[in-house]
Parts: sequence; structure tokens; C-alpha cells
Amino acid sequence: MKGLRVAVVGATGMVGRVLLERLERRRFPVAALLPFSSGRARAAVRFKGRAIPAPAADAAALRSADVAFLVSSDEVALAWGKDLAARGVWVLDDSAAFRLDPAVPLVIPEVNAAALRADKRLVAGPNCTITGLAVAAAALHRRSGVKRVRMASYQAVSGAGREALLEFYAQARRGARSLSDADMLRAPVPGKASALPATIAFNVFPQVGRFNADGECSEEVKVRNELRKLWGAPGLALSATTVRVPVARGHSVAAWLELSRPLTPRAAAALAANAPGVTVWKDGAYPTPLQAGGGDAVHAARWRRGAAPKELAVWVVTDNLLKGAALNSIQTAEALLKKGWLRPRRPS
Ligand SMILES: NC(=O)c1ccc[n+]([C@@H]2O[C@H](COP(=O)([O-])OP(=O)(O)OC[C@H]3O[C@@H](n4cnc5c(N)ncnc54)[C@H](OP(=O)(O)O)[C@@H]3O)[C@@H](O)[C@H]2O)c1
Repeated sequence: MKGLRVAVVGATGMVGRVLLERLERRRFPVAALLPFSSGRARAAVRFKGRAIPAPAADAAALRSADVAFLVSSDEVALAWGKDLAARGVWVLDDSAAFRLDPAVPLVIPEVNAAALRADKRLVAGPNCTITGLAVAAAALHRRSGVKRVRMASYQAVSGAGREALLEFYAQARRGARSLSDADMLRAPVPGKASALPATIAFNVFPQVGRFNADGECSEEVKVRNELRKLWGAPGLALSATTVRVPVARGHSVAAWLELSRPLTPRAAAALAANAPGVTVWKDGAYPTPLQAGGGDAVHAARWRRGAAPKELAVWVVTDNLLKGAALNSIQTAEALLKKGWLRPRRPS
């Protein structure tokens, strides 16, 4: 097949940069790359050893693409998503703008590739916090009917974008300098937050996104609604506390799953081990974000019984930028290629 015209809106951001790296590494058939940024001066990306300018998004160029990866913001996705799809461009959106739109498939290829449709050219990718659990426990859900999930997340700072990560590193340096061996119990002084709601270096805080009137933050609402849509389980109960932690890359989730039909921890681990994209760790071992960050796999470990009847507990770690965003979108595009739905629109 002749290669594709591939647009990336937000190519200079955190997700955009790993997306370009993975497109190259996975030999995605790129004939022409059209990278876009906010339009700031001299914005550029590297692809296949070349520096390519990344100007502001341009309607004519975007509409000429065969596929557009939107890795920018909800606002940018709302501005372009439906317009491009209506003009025949396959749009893979990593923002939250369309995830719960009933007309838009929300897809993790290993979980619900069947949601893809030839005539639905706008496809959303899920929130980076729920992706790992959605993949690791999909087979378990099919086998034993998960009816309730309780979870706490430990979310990396890169999940909040580039500004947040720069703030974390600056605070970490400042905080470390403020510490002395002589007075170990003195609190570090990392400085105030601006990109995040609270100081993140040497700290954790239970807020990801904004609070609603019921006291839930937007991430807690997203993980519930998105897992219901991904698993086709509208009645699934899910309680979450989402927490930002001083980790650069890699989201961790501790989850307790109540099942309709009982299953042993060993059988649950075996189901996960047979699922594509999942690495199950042997008893006594577990993944950390430092080990999982930068890799493609969803890591699952510590399958064990919970205190409630028919309840299992598990620890899941996933790279938020890769399987949580860029890699998932590329895998969706690869699934569309395989179906023959994504192909060059121009005669050669
Ligand atoms: N970070 C994650 O782990 C993660 C996971 C899942 C989903 N997502 C979603 O993926 C998207 C990108 O996240 P990110 O973490 O990569 O954010 P980011 O690092 O802040 O990058 C944002 C990107 O959007 C560009 N941009 C800003 N305004 C624009 C505009 N008006 N038109 C075109 N491009 C514009 C920026 O360009 P400049 O370089 O010029 O500023 C930059 O390339 C968000 O929707 C986010 O919710 C992120």
C-alpha cells in the first residue's frame, strides 16, 4: 500500500512526541507527516531523522490528511474532530471531548475493537488512568461479570502535560536543595504550584481535574463512565479516589473488583496473562512506574482475594503516554488499516 498522509495536532506536546516516536518505531505507513502545534515561533518536531516545522493547525492541510491524531486539548478536538471526520479523514482523538458521545466509539483495540465502524471516522481513546485496568481485567469481566470496582490511582505528573512536569522537576530540585542531612525531619521547601492544584514534589494530593457539586473530581467521574462504555457495562458501580503522585511517567492503580461469579486469584491472573498486551508478574513481584514507564505493556500483579465475598484485588501499572494515549491510538489506526478502512484517499 502507498503510505498515508498523517496529521498530528499537538505534535510538540508530551503525547505528540511519543506518538511520533512510536509511529516511526512501529513502521506505521507514513508517506507525509503533517505536524501541528499551537503556532508558537520555531515549533518543530523530529521524525525519521529530519526536523519538520510544526505550525498552527491549518484547515486545508488537515482536511488533506488520511488520518489525524488529535493529541492537544478538548477545545482543539471540538474545533476539528467532527469537521475532519465528516470530510472523510479518520480522526483518532486522545482528549476527553468525545469519549462519552454515544455517536463516537471509545476504543481500546484489545478490549472492544468491535466498536469500530467503517462509517464512524471519529474514534476516541480513553483516559490514561482507566486504560490499564480496562485491559488487564477485560477477560475477567467477560468470564465472571465484574459488578463493582473500588480503586485508588497513583497518577504520574506527565499525565497533566508538559507544564506540570516542568513544574515537578523544578520543585524537586528546589526541595532537594532545601534539605540538610543534619535536620532530616525538617519539611522540604519545593515552592508553590501553578500548573497543578498543589505542590507535587515530596507530596501527594487527591485531586485530578476539577471538583463537582458532589465532591468528586473530574477524573473520578471519567474513569467510571469510560469503563462502563469500554466494557459495555452500563450498570457497573465504580468508586475511585484519584491521586497525583511525584512520579514522572507511569500511572498505577490499586483496584478491588467484586464479581458476579467467583474466581480464584490464580485463575484471574491466568486470564490476564493470556490477554494481548498484558504482562502478569509472578507472586511476590510487582511492577513500579519506574519499570513500566516507557514500555508498551499493561502490567498486572498481586492478584489476591479481597475482604468482600467474590472480591479480587489487583495492582496495575501502565505508561500513561503510551498505552494510556499515543500507543492506543496508533493500535486503533493499525486495526483500521487491517480492516482496509484506513487507506490513502488520493489516487497515486
Ligand atoms: N499526558 C497524558 O498522559 C495523556 C494521556 C491521555 C490523554 N491525554 C490527552 O492528550 C492530549 C495532549 O496531552 P499532553 O499531555 O501531550 O499535553 P501537552 O504536553 O500540554 O501538549 C499539548 C499540545 O497541544 C498543542 N496545542 C496547544 N494549543 C493548540 C492549538 N490551539 N492548536 C493546535 N495545537 C495546540 C501544544 O502546542 P505547543 O507546543 O505549541 O504548546 C502541544 O503540542 C490532551 O487532550 C490530554 O488530555 C494525555
